Amino acid sequence: MPDTSTPRFALASGAPAGTRADVLVLFADEAPRANGAVAEINQALSGQLVRAATEEGFRGKVDQTFVIHTHGRLPASRVVLVGTGPRERMDAEALRQAAGRGVKAAQKLRARSVAMAVPGNPGESLGPVAEGAALGAYRFDQYRTEGREERVPLEAVRLLLPDGAARSKALEDVLERALHVTEAANFARTLVNEPAGRLTPEALAEEASRASKGHGLEVRVSGPNELKKLRMGMFSAVGQGSQNTPRLIEISYRPKKASEAKARPVALVGKAITFDSGGLSLKSSENMADMKTDMAGSAAVLGALQFSAELAPPFPVLGYLGAAENMPSGAAYRPGDILVSRLGKTVEVTNTDAEGRLVLGDVLAYAVEQNPAALVDVATLTGACVVALGHWVAGLFSNSDALAGELLSAAERAGESFWRLPLVDLQKETLRSDVADMKNLGDRWGGAISAAIFLREFVGETPWAHLDIAGPAMAPRERGYQGRGATGIGVRTLGAFLEARARAGK
Ligand code: BES
Ligand code: MN
Ligand code: ZN
Repeated sequence: MPDTSTPRFALASGAPAGTRADVLVLFADEAPRANGAVAEINQALSGQLVRAATEEGFRGKVDQTFVIHTHGRLPASRVVLVGTGPRERMDAEALRQAAGRGVKAAQKLRARSVAMAVPGNPGESLGPVAEGAALGAYRFDQYRTEGREERVPLEAVRLLLPDGAARSKALEDVLERALHVTEAANFARTLVNEPAGRLTPEALAEEASRASKGHGLEVRVSGPNELKKLRMGMFSAVGQGSQNTPRLIEISYRPKKASEAKARPVALVGKAITFDSGGLSLKSSENMADMKTDMAGSAAVLGALQFSAELAPPFPVLGYLGAAENMPSGAAYRPGDILVSRLGKTVEVTNTDAEGRLVLGDVLAYAVEQNPAALVDVATLTGACVVALGHWVAGLFSNSDALAGELLSAAERAGESFWRLPLVDLQKETLRSDVADMKNLGDRWGGAISAAIFLREFVGETPWAHLDIAGPAMAPRERGYQGRGATGIGVRTLGAFLEARARAGK
């Protein structure tokens, strides 16, 4: 898989007016008076920055940017003002979005080097600015050959600390943490953007192995015969219709200290349908178009494991990716088939397009055998969740209020949006089968809930949460640090979740 190049990041404490760069990015809120770095640069440009920006209608609103050329009056060739909106609504996520927009504006100006003035208290703002910049710099253009020669890669981003703030170990750590989590998120984005013809279950296993070895994680890959030996009848069935055979990919982070290595692990399970044609219950062309994204949950889990290697929490983190290609063929599983799951429960297939829950059911049951302290699955599971919550919010289900609360607050810190949906017991009736313990698909009402209820059958009493990311796995338009295409959703939330648990030592 081709590597997407990321710029080098560094902290600097010089004055913005003395900083050499192709583009100097400044943040401006809706306050009527320029302050901080904006005031400083405005003065260096004899008041022309604010005058010109005002004439062009720039008011510091979110989505507004303004570019001015300095014609040698400053060491920076151009200044980009990025609006951050009203000051009272300025939080970490608004800063991330603004920093992402600043970097994207600089890239459109073909900048190789960017200097960015970190606003406010750097102890709070540096992390979000660095994250937004690193996410905003991401591009997936290695398959675009036209204009390749003229494309200018962004090579360096310097983060300028405000007046009086010196570089410190604490700030360097904040930057390093931001780069680790965004590197993991960008890696997840690339896996999702990669077309299904290249990223088969086998190729995903290779990517996982490569990434894991680079980060000192353990990997184990099981193929179709081993899946049968593991009695994963549902998972095997989903994979049997494709020549690209299924893989169970296990990645583990284990603490070096023996006492910590014995702690109860956190287990993460990811749906890795590398392509979802629907199988014999074939999707329409329209619904099939984006189905290379159906492994986004596994990309989030892999990213979270990569981040765990850097975080080094005092408990093991175990990742399980259930990788299969859901295809129609003479060997494919059929509507009417009765499958025997690893748990022994039997399932009547009424629709081969409800394949994610079949794979996840077996993998969840397998993960539960490690007696995890918490079990979280991430999956592009249902179109119904997209109908319910749209493209900007993911669904969260949990059998534990405590775990749900931890994940929602981690998501809030990370700047990802989740909304808790209920596990309605009555909804289980829709999964009743005449010939097996249950069917894999109910009626169409509350489809995201029925899918979650199906998964719950395989987790026993383990504290478990299910993240349905079908909507936000792909962004329908550019926004802040997000370009069109894969978002890497889940990586940052899982990262913040593991971080909080590591800090609490649980
Ligand atoms: N992978 C899809 C869910 C999905 C839909 C992901 C849209 C991303 C965007 C899942 O396997 C699926 O096909 N679900 C079907 C189930 C159907 C049989 C009721 C769905 O939700 O449409
Ligand atoms: Mn499907
Ligand atoms: Zn699917």
